Amino acid sequence: MQDLTAIVLAAGRGTRMQSQFPKVLHEILGEPLLSYPLRVISEVGINSSVVVISGDDDGDRVKASFADLKKTAWARQLVPKGTGDAVAAALKGLKKATGDVLILCGDVPLMQVDTLTRFYEKHRRLKAKLSVMTAVLDDGGAYGRVLVDEREAPVAIVEARDASPAQLEVKRINSGTYIVDIDLLRRALEETDCNNAQGEYYLTDMVAFARREGAFTAIYDVEDSREILGVNNRRDLVLLEAFMASRIAESWLDNGVTIQAPEQVRIAPRVSIGRDTEIAPGVSLMGKTTVGSGCRLGAGAQIKNSSISDRVEIKPYSVIEEAEIGMQSMIGPFARIRPGSIIAAEVKIGNFVETKKVHFGRGAKASHLSYIGDAEVGAESNLGAGTITCNYDGFNKFKTVIGERVFVGSDSQLVAPVELGNDVLVGSGTTVTRDVPENTMVTARVRQKEFARRGMAWRRHSAEEK
Ligand code: UD1
Ligand code: CA
Repeated sequence: MQDLTAIVLAAGRGTRMQSQFPKVLHEILGEPLLSYPLRVISEVGINSSVVVISGDDDGDRVKASFADLKKTAWARQLVPKGTGDAVAAALKGLKKATGDVLILCGDVPLMQVDTLTRFYEKHRRLKAKLSVMTAVLDDGGAYGRVLVDEREAPVAIVEARDASPAQLEVKRINSGTYIVDIDLLRRALEETDCNNAQGEYYLTDMVAFARREGAFTAIYDVEDSREILGVNNRRDLVLLEAFMASRIAESWLDNGVTIQAPEQVRIAPRVSIGRDTEIAPGVSLMGKTTVGSGCRLGAGAQIKNSSISDRVEIKPYSVIEEAEIGMQSMIGPFARIRPGSIIAAEVKIGNFVETKKVHFGRGAKASHLSYIGDAEVGAESNLGAGTITCNYDGFNKFKTVIGERVFVGSDSQLVAPVELGNDVLVGSGTTVTRDVPENTMVTARVRQKEFARRGMAWRRHSAEEK
């Protein structure tokens, strides 16, 4: 579909969302609504696209959220005066374009690549000048009704609010997705007025215009009408998110991944998962996350923008963000792996351990109740329960470097900046404030004293005497 230009409409106010944010920035599976049609456009190979955004702050916010998009042009619709006016705003920047344009709505996230491809194929096969993607619903609700002739070619689209009772009975509705010859579109928009119930310039009026010109028009009925559902309010948002989540979960089930209670699992569109990985209920995999094969992701694990190698076990309720976990490592339960944590293979991070900006070497362990931040932990080192890197003095962050095969006794603090050489042994309860050379034992704590006959028996006895 490289020869098409795409126009995505995203300037509407979205009043029914009751939100301070523009509608197309509301998220489904952690990705803004607008990202869905944009991804489909790029997957079908369209290189030229224009997104219509509003002229105010909302438009700025939408543009800022997609700042890294290279091939997309932005058009501003200064006042939202209807879909026809929005497309006209896009055409201002497409003065030299020829051929067909694909028009999509920014708030319709479920449309699939295959559907769009078949729509285009039919448009080409029939040599149509204007094709409308349609769906047949039991109740057309607020959608525009598509009126067709005896050959099932559309003659007009009537908005629900302008429709007669008889027209409202029509079950074929307009999805808001079109392929149209750009010259026909230009001519149609010049003639469009706003004499209708909403006082808006309706893009849909182009169908009747095309017929008046004698142009060939066509419809394409989608198989699954859920694909054309739009988000108008928050009920739609959560419903469509559930559809999207189940579609994605089902596709992983078909590709060798076990997902228990799939309706409770949320896997975002850019996630990839290897075979024989098992996912427990309540797991959420967001952003650009990759999970290897043979992994086990325990109940409630939340993983975002991270890379998990093969045969890793993430135990329940662990939270992992912007991190890398090496092969056969074990994380959690209840671990928090924060951004910049690079965990090598065969590492064990146990319960209530928090890491941030760390590098854990192969086979290292922090099994219980620790904070390890701004640190390097050498291979095979073992950080005992309650080990804390004191990395922050209230103003700056400092680094802790721990060599290989180091053993840190429980309840020790490593006050950064500090460095422990290879094979260091830190006695339990030590506060390390100076560098420790390799193969050294270090303790820093008050020597133990014993007070004979001052134990509990003595205290009970003295209490009784009172
Ligand atoms: C539109 C169609 C309707 C169709 C439905 C499918 C028209 C007149 N009606 O109705 O036939 O069944 O979509 O979902 O086209 N937008 C702008 N600027 C505007 C107005 C809208 O950019 O001035 C954008 C919106 O952000 C949205 C899209 O256009 O992405 C559709 O607008 P919306 O107001 O939701 O149209 P509907 O009333 O749903
Ligand atoms: Ca809509």
